[in-house]
Amino acid sequence: LANGLGATPPMGWNSWNHFACDGNGEVVIRETADALVSTGLAAAGYKYVNLDDCWAEPERDAKGNLAANKKTFPHGIKALADYVHSKGLKLGIYSDAGYKTCAKAQPGSLGHEEQDAKTFASWGIDYLKYDNCNNGDTKPLQRYPDMSKALMQAGRPIFFNLCEWGDMHPARWGAAYGNSWRTTNDIEDTWDSMTSMADQNEVWAEYARPGGWNDPDMLEVGNGGMTNDEYIVHFSIWAISKAPLIIGCDVRHMSQDTYDILANKEVIAVNQDPLGVQGKKVRMEGSSEIWAAPLTGYRTAVLLLNRHAKDEAQITAHWDDIGLPAGTAVDARDLWLVRLYLSPAVTKPTDGMDESS
Ligand code: GLA
Repeated sequence: LANGLGATPPMGWNSWNHFACDGNGEVVIRETADALVSTGLAAAGYKYVNLDDCWAEPERDAKGNLAANKKTFPHGIKALADYVHSKGLKLGIYSDAGYKTCAKAQPGSLGHEEQDAKTFASWGIDYLKYDNCNNGDTKPLQRYPDMSKALMQAGRPIFFNLCEWGDMHPARWGAAYGNSWRTTNDIEDTWDSMTSMADQNEVWAEYARPGGWNDPDMLEVGNGGMTNDEYIVHFSIWAISKAPLIIGCDVRHMSQDTYDILANKEVIAVNQDPLGVQGKKVRMEGSSEIWAAPLTGYRTAVLLLNRHAKDEAQITAHWDDIGLPAGTAVDARDLWLVRLYLSPAVTKPTDGMDESS
C-alpha cells in the first residue's frame, strides 16, 4: 500500500498470543511499553505495541463510535496512545471486516469503515490489524479495500495489516490495499504448527516486497510451548522470510534465553535488510532443508533447517544452491554463534571460509 509505511517488515509486540482476551488492559500495555524500552528491545527495532481483540465495549456508543472497554481501558485509547508515543513507540489496534470480531467481544467495522478509521486516527493509532470473522459471507475483496481507502483518508499514516487468513489468497491482491497480509490460519505454540505456518507462507514469497509483506502470524518465542532451540528456528525462519516480527510473549517477565533470541541484532538485520526479498527453500532432502535470501551488499542469508529437530543432522549448503559460482571465496558467519560469546569460557571462533557448516 502506497502509504509510505512498511519499507521493511514491521517489528513490535501484540497482546493476543500470550493474553488473548484475558489481561489485555491498559496496565499491561503500559508496562509492556516500559519493558520494551528498558530491556533494549525497542532500540533493537520493536516499535509497535499492538492491542488485539477485546479492547472495546461490546456495543458502539450513542454516536455509533467504537469505545474502549471501561473496565480494562478506563482512561481510553487516546491517553494510552499518548503514553506509548511518549516512550518513542507506536500504538496498534484491532478491528474486523465483519459485524463482530473473531472473539465476538466487540463490534466489527464493516459498514463503519470511515467512522472507525477517523476514530483510530483521532486517537493517534499507528497500526490496524483487520480481521476477517463474522462477515456475512461477503468476499474479502469487497471489504478490505473499503477500510484501506478509509485509512488513507483518515489523515494519519496507519500501517494496515490484512488479517485475511487465506480465504481468498490475500498475497495475490494484498499489496494494493495493505502493508501486510496473513497467509495462514492462527499459529499455535508448537513445532508442528510453527513449521506448517512457515511452509504455507513460503509459497507466496514472490509477492513480498517493501511496503507489503506476507504474514505467517505472530511470534510464539518465549510462550513456553517449544524448546529454546525450536524458538531459534522459529525466529530464524520468520527473519529470513521477511515476516513481521511481532513478539507474542509477556516481555515484562521474559527469560534471558527468550531475550537473546528476540534481540539478536544480526538476525534482525536479515529481516530488516532494505532489499526486502523473502527467503525461499532452495534445497530439500528428507528432513533437511536449505533456505536462502539475497541481501544488500553482495550478501546472502542461508538457513539450514533440520525438520527433525530432536535428532542431530549435518546439512551442507553448496554454492550453487544459494546462487554463487563454484569456488567463490566468502566470509561466512553463523548468526547464532554470537550467543556463545556471552559465556567467557567460550572463545570466539574465526569466520569460516569453506563450503560446509
Ligand atoms: C483471529 C486472528 C488472531 C486473533 C483472534 C482474535 O483468530 O487470526 O490473530 O486476532 O482472531 O479474536
